[in-house]
Amino acid sequence: MGTDKIYVAGHRGMVGSAIVRALHQQGQTNFATRIHAELDLTNQAVVQAFFAKEKPTQVYLAAAKVGGIHANNTYPAEFIYQNLMVQANVIEAAFRNGVQKLLFLGSSCIYPKLAPQPMAEDALLIGPLEPTNEPYAIAKIAGIKLCESYNRQFGVSHGVDYRSIMPTNLYGPGDNYHQENSHVIPALIRRFHEAKVANAPTVTIWGSGTQRREFLYVDDMAAASVFVMNLPKATLDAHTQPMQSHINVGFGDDMTIKELALAVGKTVGYEGVMDFDTSKPDGSPRKLLNSQRLNSLGWQAKVGLNAGLSNAYQDFLAKKIT
Ligand SMILES: NC(=O)c1ccc[n+]([C@@H]2O[C@H](COP(=O)([O-])OP(=O)(O)OC[C@H]3O[C@@H](n4cnc5c(N)ncnc54)[C@H](OP(=O)(O)O)[C@@H]3O)[C@@H](O)[C@H]2O)c1
Repeated sequence: MGTDKIYVAGHRGMVGSAIVRALHQQGQTNFATRIHAELDLTNQAVVQAFFAKEKPTQVYLAAAKVGGIHANNTYPAEFIYQNLMVQANVIEAAFRNGVQKLLFLGSSCIYPKLAPQPMAEDALLIGPLEPTNEPYAIAKIAGIKLCESYNRQFGVSHGVDYRSIMPTNLYGPGDNYHQENSHVIPALIRRFHEAKVANAPTVTIWGSGTQRREFLYVDDMAAASVFVMNLPKATLDAHTQPMQSHINVGFGDDMTIKELALAVGKTVGYEGVMDFDTSKPDGSPRKLLNSQRLNSLGWQAKVGLNAGLSNAYQDFLAKKIT
């Protein structure tokens, strides 16, 4: 890392900002960053110009259009178009400007709807995707394949080494607490907090609460990102294949939505009753990543749910969302 100039695309997002924090902690000070308003990554010409001017040596690609089920269902065109453009522009501009090390961030939704649980890397492309986020997932799969294709074509000739990691559901400081477009943890934090403030006797949660999900604290995700970026190439190559190179990043265990809701309610200090609306869909009964590939490389998650939720709630309170 020493002499590297690092571009973290999406450095003001939840994951990008955690990656910057993690790199800072390791003594990294030489960053190239631009906010969305300064550099629209869907615009090929300005992305090329940015790379030509800044000449970063490493890229963390954490910029993406991200959202929950509602957002994915409502804006499918934006999800597929923007994500395809952002990653194609950044990866091509990185290559043209001599970047040898790039880390692409995907998501566990790349796996088929009925993938065997826990989902290992080799479940990619073995079956149909979950329809609600198919456009987003297709873009993320294309991102993995972009990295692999540049490695295969330019790895030997240009030293290109572009890696991909697929995190499970993330939460923590910097999350999006939007009423409709947020993921489950920030949505629950907001609803329990609002119920507490209003002294509401019940909070209704969609679905039966029996479906199981996995959650990873964002600083663990950032630590895993830096870990994978800095693994020696020979070590990584020994655990991956040229056309199946992505690495899952999970907590390693899952929980029911009811258990999660109880933990969020406790963190927030809500004392009312939780009501489960079973007329609403549950989604898949279970979604857990198999993270053995990453674990066998020497990385393990550290932050437990209660500590992570406590930090996330402090972040929510600091934002003074009304
Ligand atoms: N959050 C999760 O649970 C989760 C789970 C699995 C994987 N991931 C992956 O982690 C990565 C980061 O997610 P996140 O949760 O950190 O999302 P986020 O908080 O929404 O951050 C994404 C960042 O990308 C920027 N961005 C989006 N489109 C852009 C564009 N056209 N040009 C420039 N910047 C753009 C956003 O800027 P604006 O806000 O200004 O648009 C934002 O700063 C994504 O690849 C996502 O797939 C996230």
